[in-house]
Amino acid sequence: MNIILLGPPGAGKGTQASRLEDEHGMVQLSTGDMLRAAVKAGTPIGMQAKAVMDAGELVSDEIVSGLIGERLDELGGETSVIFDGYPRTAAQAEALDAILAERGRKLDHVIELLVDEDALVDRITGRFSCANCGEGYHDRYKLPKVAGTCDVCGNQEFKRRPDDNEETVRTRMAEYRAKTAPILPIYEARGIVARVDGMAAIASVNDAIEAIFAPAG
Ligand code: AP5
Repeated sequence: MNIILLGPPGAGKGTQASRLEDEHGMVQLSTGDMLRAAVKAGTPIGMQAKAVMDAGELVSDEIVSGLIGERLDELGGETSVIFDGYPRTAAQAEALDAILAERGRKLDHVIELLVDEDALVDRITGRFSCANCGEGYHDRYKLPKVAGTCDVCGNQEFKRRPDDNEETVRTRMAEYRAKTAPILPIYEARGIVARVDGMAAIASVNDAIEAIFAPAG
């Protein structure tokens, strides 16, 4: 199974992809995570991507499509994948078709998370995560149970993404409207787009997504 999760920054793509990974053994392919790992490791791709990401703009199509192709080659052909944050442009959508076809895969579902943009700024500017295990928290909605200590691993260091400030979030949303939302008709024409209310509680969004790829009955 090959699924794309589509939605603006903060729509919940990463949250839902990681739940699907835990609950269904699928693999989350997040280009944002891959790029952040490259930045952290100081690779040539990371050095090229850092300023672009910090500004909230899009990294080049060739770089991200290259990363996706490499990751798919590392996974076996049988592994179900969730594309999180990819494709984001018409060129990436075209590249993904070729990448999948070359590997004997086909796209099953494109799931768009529908959200209210004003709520997204609040979601994103308040989020932080454990610097050790990556568990996500939020200044208002999900604080660690013991102040300053990660619930999962007990670590006491936390981090925030450098692109999670209001100005950059607005740029990221504008990029989504201008370059990513216009690729939806490509998939609508194939009849594989489903829409989910991304403003519902995280567990309800998860249920709605599962109902798309594993309908009851
Ligand atoms: P990327 O890492 O992909 O960031 P993004 O798309 O901006 O998405 P986010 O990770 O911010 O949001 P999300 O939808 O995953 O939401 P989340 O689940 O975290 O990209 C970062 C940058 O990398 C880009 O700007 C670009 O520069 C570059 N890049 C990446 N891919 C690229 C590509 N393909 N091409 C070119 N450049 C690329 O949730 C957010 C918060 O909301 C969390 O705190 C969460 O707990 C909370 N939350 C989630 N769901 C709910 C809910 N239902 N109710 C309440 N709170 C919720």
